[in-house]
Amino acid sequence: MFSLENFDIKLNTDIIGRNFVYTEEIESTNSFLLNKANKFSTDGTVILAEKQNKGHGRNNKVWYSTRGYNLTFSILLTNKKFLGKRFNIINFAASLAVANAIENLFQLRTELKWPNDVLVNGKKIAGILTESISSGSKVERLVIGIGINVNQILFQGNYNIPPTSLKLELNETIERERLLAEYLNNFEEILNKFEFSPGDILKDWKSKCGLIGEKISITDGEKTKYGIFDDIDEDGFLLLKNKGKTEKIYFGDVYI
Ligand code: BTN
Repeated sequence: MFSLENFDIKLNTDIIGRNFVYTEEIESTNSFLLNKANKFSTDGTVILAEKQNKGHGRNNKVWYSTRGYNLTFSILLTNKKFLGKRFNIINFAASLAVANAIENLFQLRTELKWPNDVLVNGKKIAGILTESISSGSKVERLVIGIGINVNQILFQGNYNIPPTSLKLELNETIERERLLAEYLNNFEEILNKFEFSPGDILKDWKSKCGLIGEKISITDGEKTKYGIFDDIDEDGFLLLKNKGKTEKIYFGDVYI
């Protein structure tokens, strides 16, 4: 059982998570906050679910998470300053905050994998999916969905990157309330740099991305491209260098 009291005591934010919704079961925390009919529009609203029946990840993959073991939650952003075109930077802020929270609390070294997976010892410990709805050309709401594997030790199914959890890495049961508060505290701190110094978010993100400079392949499900992972540009896109030419990659899965 998640203790709202223990969580609240450790939450240090001004906006993120101040409007907090806890639910036992839901289709998907992302889909719930994206749907205007559910009448949540406060910037920074967070919904945490013990179980999602249609939890999803990038490329329409199912996000599996056993009831009560992990953290599966979404954050709603509605403040106009976040709804411009630099979505990827918000994505980076979200994965960087996972890495910082894990390193601060557990001294575990994390690695970030473009576009936004968080790895520990080469295995995936968290994934992020940012979705939005627009009216005409205007983005109205941005929802950042985060799944962190906390206390689950058995994973079934097929994974591109093998999964792990904090419990598997540390051999101890982790207090989810403390981790969620630490995450949201970090996320807000990073997000505060979004408006005036987004380059700092990118710089910190890149410092944890081990693949820059490496030979990689990148696939979008249909086509695979090869080259050197040259850099990430200021909008968060991957720059792939091959035979002297640099190509901008907007999405895909990176392999070494
Ligand atoms: C990925 O690695 O592909 C991203 C996974 C994102 C999963 C989270 S769990 C909470 C939120 N609700 C969803 O349906 N998906 C995200």
